[in-house]
Amino acid sequence: MKKFIFATNNAHKLDEVKAIVGKKIEILSLRDIGCQADIPETADTLEGNALQKARFVYDAYHQDCFADDTGLEVEALDGAPGVYSARYAGDAHNSEANMRKLLHELEGVENRRARFRTVFALILNGKEHLFEGIVYGRIDKVRHGTAGFGYDPIFIPDGYTQTFAEMGDELKNQISHRALGAQKLCKFLQTL
Ligand code: IMP
Repeated sequence: MKKFIFATNNAHKLDEVKAIVGKKIEILSLRDIGCQADIPETADTLEGNALQKARFVYDAYHQDCFADDTGLEVEALDGAPGVYSARYAGDAHNSEANMRKLLHELEGVENRRARFRTVFALILNGKEHLFEGIVYGRIDKVRHGTAGFGYDPIFIPDGYTQTFAEMGDELKNQISHRALGAQKLCKFLQTL
C-alpha cells in the first residue's frame, strides 16, 4: 500500500482527506511519525506555505508527503484574510476572534461574496506537484451551526442555505475546497 505523510495534526483535515483517499492509500499524520516540530508557514501565498510545509517534512523524513494551506478570500476585502486567515485577529489562531473581526469588517457591506481556496503541495519521489480546490459562497451576517472549525459558522456555500457549520461534516466533506483539492490529488495518485 502506498504511504504518504500528510503534514498536519488537524484532526478535521485528516478525517476529511482520509475519507476521500479511501483505504487504498495510507495517510500518516505528523503525530503518527512522531514529528513535533513547529513547521514554519512564512510564505505570502497559499502555494508558498503548502510547499514550505511539504518541503520541511520531505527534507526531514525523505518520504513522500503532502501539505495543504487554505485561505478564506473575501471579495469586498480584496481577497483578505487569504493566506493570513488563521491569524486574522492576531497570533492566537482564535477562530472566534477571527470571525468577529471579519463580521466587523463587513458591517454595512453589501457584497458578501467569498471563497475558500485550498492548495495541496505533494512531493513524490522528490518532485513537486500542486493541486487547487475552490468553493464559492458568501459570508453570513451572524454565526450559524456548531460543526466544523474556523470560519465554518459564517460561510454559506453557493447552492445551499446553510453554513458549513450547520450542514455538518458529511456534506461539507463532499463539497468543500479541501475535498475538491484532495480529489484532484487523489486522482493523480491513482494514475501512478
Ligand atoms: P490552514 O492554514 O489550512 O490550517 O487554514 C488557515 C485558516 O483558514 C484556519 O485556521 C481556519 O481559520 C481557516 N480554514 C481552513 N479551512 C477551513 C474550513 O474548512 N472551514 C473554515 N475555516 C477554515
